[in-house]
Amino acid sequence: MNEKRVTFASKVGVIAAAAGSAVGLGNIWRFPSQTADGGGAIFILVYLGCILFFGIPLIISEFIVGRSSQANTAGAFHELAPGAPWKWVGRLGVLTGFIIMGFYMVVCGWTLDYLVQSLTGSLHKVNDFSANFTSLLNNPLRQIFWMILFTLLTAFFILSGVKKGIEQSSKIMMPMLFLILIILAVRAILLEGASSGLSFLFMPSLEHVKPTVFLDAMGQAFFSLSLGMGCMITYGSYFNNRINLTKTAMQVAVLDTMVAILAGVIIFPAAFALTANPGTIVDELVAGGPGLLFITLPGLFNQMPVSMLWAAMFFCLLALAALTSTISLMEVVTLYLHEEYRLSRKMSTFIVTAGVIVLGVISSISAPFFNLLDISSAKFMLPIGGFFISLFVGWYLDKKMVYAQLTNQGTLKTAVGFLKTYIFLLRYIVPPAILAIFVYGLTG
Ligand code: TRP
Repeated sequence: MNEKRVTFASKVGVIAAAAGSAVGLGNIWRFPSQTADGGGAIFILVYLGCILFFGIPLIISEFIVGRSSQANTAGAFHELAPGAPWKWVGRLGVLTGFIIMGFYMVVCGWTLDYLVQSLTGSLHKVNDFSANFTSLLNNPLRQIFWMILFTLLTAFFILSGVKKGIEQSSKIMMPMLFLILIILAVRAILLEGASSGLSFLFMPSLEHVKPTVFLDAMGQAFFSLSLGMGCMITYGSYFNNRINLTKTAMQVAVLDTMVAILAGVIIFPAAFALTANPGTIVDELVAGGPGLLFITLPGLFNQMPVSMLWAAMFFCLLALAALTSTISLMEVVTLYLHEEYRLSRKMSTFIVTAGVIVLGVISSISAPFFNLLDISSAKFMLPIGGFFISLFVGWYLDKKMVYAQLTNQGTLKTAVGFLKTYIFLLRYIVPPAILAIFVYGLTG
């Protein structure tokens, strides 16, 4: 498995690819609906805590496992812990990636559908955006069509290779996405009545908080940072020895969090300002569930000049952000089949694509199945994966090797205090905290 591996070409490319994996529908679609469901500001506070205490240490850890083994998710554990059962952590990750794609691709399909609705101008003529979204949900064939198209598009990039496919596309679309989000956020904040949306986001209140808030926020943090299934292991395996792992991890976490918060600052002010019944808006938001983004945003576009153009640009960029995420997911599973079973890259991609389409079809037909895949991956499988990865790097791996990875064999001036804190977190804080949140969330 140590034949010469492709690596990402530049530092910017590395960050763009890792951030491209992290930034996706998780930030713009899932984060707002989880925030609505979790009661607003308190959810966000817990979420930020999870990013800081679990997220950053775990991204670094996955990078370490990836770069030091130069292998796919399962192969990495195999390589670093030969003969030990750790490889099951990698296998669980591969399975998780597969399950995530099984519902994620459906939402990707929705973005394509909305892109077309924007381009044809039909979105512009809609009066009831909620009914408009429901009519898509009630039309499995329409969803399946777009889901399959998106899966094939992802497969195409997987086949076209690491550098060209992932790196280039991320480098261009990330800044563009950022720009349009800022414009939309400004527009949303300037709406009359937007301030109650902002206070829902930023003024903690216990009114709508649920006992599962910790588990929900932790799951969202893992999901958003692409953690706990080896995505960052696989990307780390493409890093060269000069990349500063800690710095990269922090940049990814900051970018990812900024995009999520920006999405909130667009959706909540817009939803609060544009609603007809402010009294029940929170219940409405929660009821909107996975449709929140697709119901609220078209209303905001209609408040803007040349609404069609904004809508088309937004859904196009959203689809691209989703694409860099699905590429990272599919890459994990494909590389696993390719390296572990010695199948050709083509054959591996074909198998993964077919499997994802099967799951995607079932998710399109059945909302409970869709939710099952969403919940089991984000709230169960990713935290479990993260738990074992922190144990692996904190306790199993040789500390000298971990330090060598963090300091690039001693060439980086990484503060000793940082190294100690990092190991301390991985050993004594992350695993018990994940476990505690898990137990509390399941029994609470
Ligand atoms: N993080 C991506 C998003 O926010 C989704 C994603 C890509 C992901 N790869 C992952 C989620 C690995 C969990 C694990 O949209």
